[in-house]
Amino acid sequence: MPFKDIQLNDGRKIPAIGFGSWKIPKDVCSGQVGQAIDLGFDHLDTAQVYRNEEEVGQAFKESGLSRKDVWITTKWSGLDDKEPKQSCEESLSKLGISYIDLYLIHHPRLCKGDIKGTWKKLEELKKLGYVKSIGVSNFTKEDLQELLSSCHIKPVVNQILLHPYVIKQQTPLLDYMSTHHIVPEGYSTLIPLTSKPNGPVDKPVNEIAKRLNVKPEQVLLAWSKAKNAVIVTTSSRKERLEGYLNVGDIELTKDDVKAIDHAGAKGELWEARKQKMAAASKYVVAAGLIGYLVYSKL
Ligand SMILES: NC(=O)c1ccc[n+]([C@@H]2O[C@H](COP(=O)([O-])OP(=O)(O)OC[C@H]3O[C@@H](n4cnc5c(N)ncnc54)[C@H](OP(=O)(O)O)[C@@H]3O)[C@@H](O)[C@H]2O)c1
Repeated sequence: MPFKDIQLNDGRKIPAIGFGSWKIPKDVCSGQVGQAIDLGFDHLDTAQVYRNEEEVGQAFKESGLSRKDVWITTKWSGLDDKEPKQSCEESLSKLGISYIDLYLIHHPRLCKGDIKGTWKKLEELKKLGYVKSIGVSNFTKEDLQELLSSCHIKPVVNQILLHPYVIKQQTPLLDYMSTHHIVPEGYSTLIPLTSKPNGPVDKPVNEIAKRLNVKPEQVLLAWSKAKNAVIVTTSSRKERLEGYLNVGDIELTKDDVKAIDHAGAKGELWEARKQKMAAASKYVVAAGLIGYLVYSKL
């Protein structure tokens, strides 16, 4: 069963998995985005600060798909201190499109203490027809509370860091968002594979992958899906992208999700131990070096 689109609080539906273009170098960006579109991705995620909106737009144009068939998200990143309106106009021009599906405040710090005022500027962009839906990214529960206390239009999503090693701290935020019908978009979900390998999460992920005959990255993305999040991920490799799209067919059990959450919660202890070990091994090397210098002078 392919992924089902996810309902947003403004009446629109968003494709449940997006291809992100963060860190993709300009010279290979349109090729990688084009590959994702050819394989079936219909949701692209970029940002002003990724500096590759032209290439993302070029890939969309070259796909020959009609505008309504591809969801395009970009973000106001406060680049060069430009205001949301000017930034949005530049993003539209770089992407080569007449409207943006979803426009996000990339980070609350960009609001410089004025979340309410900044959000009003995004509401204005929606009224102007530049963007169809508006949302936020990296907002905490407190940031959302502030925004919701004065907004006319609610944010449809909050794009956040979502992987098993942060699930304990993100759960109250996810619960708050669920109460207010703000959909989570989860990024960097593959961190247990990309930058924190050999941690406690590997065991349940590998066991589930073996049982379901799928790859560990697919288990992690299925875990994000089980949290009712829109998946935002990326890959330069065709076979991985095909695997990501097949996550629509992978259903984890409640026990699978619990086992991954539980292992993720052990992450803090694991990190602390790793740091202690690293400090201790530095000490041993330094002591050895001093010993050698002293000994060689005798
Ligand atoms: N709003 C924000 O502040 C924010 C922040 C970060 C990211 N994002 C968005 O989220 C998107 C995804 O972010 P991310 O790159 O951090 O996400 P991710 O989904 O955690 O990681 C994607 C990377 O995982 C690698 N990978 C996949 N399977 C692997 C495996 N089995 N072993 C080792 N590596 C593996 C891929 O490398 P290969 O190319 O080799 O397959 C790819 O580069 C970004 O492009 C951006 O659109 C938003």
